[in-house]
Amino acid sequence: MQEAGPNPTRSRYMRGLSRLVNRTGEVTPRTMELAGAITIFLGIYVSCLLVISAWRKQSRYKNLPPGPTPLPGLGVGRNFRLFFVFLTFSVELVPISHSTLITFPVQLSAKYGPVFTVYFGSKPIVVLCGHEAVKEALVDQAEEFSGRAHMPTVEKNFHGVVFANGERWRQLRRFSLTVLRNFGMGKKSIEERIQEEAQFLLEAFRETKAEPFDPTFFLSRAVSNIICSIVFGDRFDYEDKEFLSLLQMMNKSFREISTPWSQVCPARNETVGIFIACGLLQITVFWRRVKQNQATLDVNSPRDFIDCFLIQMEKEKQNPSSEFNIKNLELTTLNLFFAGTETVSSTLRYGFLLLMKHPEVLGKMHEEIDQVIGQSRVPAIEDRSQMPYTDAVIHEIQRFSDLIPMDVPHIVTRDTQFRGYTIPQGTEIYPILSTVLRDPSKFKTPESFNPRNFLEEMGQFRKNDAFVPFSSGKRICLGEALARMELFLFFTTILQRFTLKPLMAPEDIDTKPLENGFAKIPPFYQLCVVPR
Ligand code: HEM
Repeated sequence: MQEAGPNPTRSRYMRGLSRLVNRTGEVTPRTMELAGAITIFLGIYVSCLLVISAWRKQSRYKNLPPGPTPLPGLGVGRNFRLFFVFLTFSVELVPISHSTLITFPVQLSAKYGPVFTVYFGSKPIVVLCGHEAVKEALVDQAEEFSGRAHMPTVEKNFHGVVFANGERWRQLRRFSLTVLRNFGMGKKSIEERIQEEAQFLLEAFRETKAEPFDPTFFLSRAVSNIICSIVFGDRFDYEDKEFLSLLQMMNKSFREISTPWSQVCPARNETVGIFIACGLLQITVFWRRVKQNQATLDVNSPRDFIDCFLIQMEKEKQNPSSEFNIKNLELTTLNLFFAGTETVSSTLRYGFLLLMKHPEVLGKMHEEIDQVIGQSRVPAIEDRSQMPYTDAVIHEIQRFSDLIPMDVPHIVTRDTQFRGYTIPQGTEIYPILSTVLRDPSKFKTPESFNPRNFLEEMGQFRKNDAFVPFSSGKRICLGEALARMELFLFFTTILQRFTLKPLMAPEDIDTKPLENGFAKIPPFYQLCVVPR
């Protein structure tokens, strides 16, 4: 029989043990103390486990979907391999590693099914994965799943429609949607505002003279000006220093809330500092505008969102349950500004990168633009129905770039029966949009960039109800129609006049996100825009 060799694990253990015992082999008082402390700790820990388990059986949470057993001190045991730590005091989903954000829910759902529960301390969170589960919750039981969770990272300076619940949310959402749909707001349509801004962007691109540049603030200045034009009827000059510093801060805060550490510790100095600075600057700019509008308001001719809101405030001033007041005006305009800038500009930025990585796709878009629009007029939104390829590419850019991977967390508004489970009112819900956008039962090539995911065999555009970058149900993105119009008009206007040249071979372009937390942030890069 072969003799067993030295066992390294065992000898390490023996060395550790021998340190606890003195050289004569006797147990010292210090060793006794240590052993006592460990025993007490284990005793308390096991008791806590028993108490939690008994409490869960009896509590209102007894019929939640299955999931990993929560341990005292850690929301979820195990999974350190994935670097996911759920700290007792943390109130948010905590991805500590960039690359594991998607694999974590996928791994847990492989074990527990598409609907499972994880705990942050004693707080349960129900996670929904894949098209079916997310649709059944957000669409089929839309009212129950329409609440908004408390989100300390972004909430600090950004309440308003995004974080409101109940009657306040209903009133602010209905009003904002009506204004964004173009009713009763000035003479210029939203489409005209975008077409006009796209021309300013073309001019800024021309000035680069086909030299390399980073497109980040070119794109965010143009996109932000659309919201500015809607909210206060006016655009900023691209050279305006205050505007640029506002955008730089928004960009930084969007990145900051998407870093792993900010998810672990939302109250970090850096995060709070950036948000306070950003909030203050925005409030200064917006406050000035609200004052100007109040001084020059003509109730018969509203010029912008602020005018419309002021008129509504006046109409409802006798209504005690009205949510139309200066505070909500300020917060809702800030919401639109923040939600409407980084989202669209990050998608355009990711889009450019993906088009440079896939020059054959860029070439086909150029061809379709030349055929349908030509070079003698500016693109219009009605062109979209004639341009299935371009439409499919833009959908695929949004699907693949997967901007808000875990959605903005919801809560259930009442005790809810869902797939045989009982989810008590107020329980947090994370619909993992990533898992819907990459659902293998809904897309031909879920993991790779491929416009054919949205095309029929004969080249017509194919709708897909798993296309949910804007989420779905009652909380679906309020700016969806605006964002889709912006994406179509900006992409087509730029590609009508320019081609995109990367600074390296397409196969060397890295499309991995810079951050992957609350949002998926595209990497910084440079490119040349060359006139066609
Ligand atoms: C590509 C662009 C965009 C993407 C991918 C996007 C995505 C999202 C997502 C995932 C949500 C959360 C939905 C939920 O709670 O289930 C949301 C909410 C929201 N978005 Fe967008 N968004 C985009 C552009 C915009 C724009 C341009 C605006 C501005 C008009 C905007 C305003 C809002 C607002 C106000 C909410 C909160 C809605 C509510 O709570 O009722 N978004 N968006």
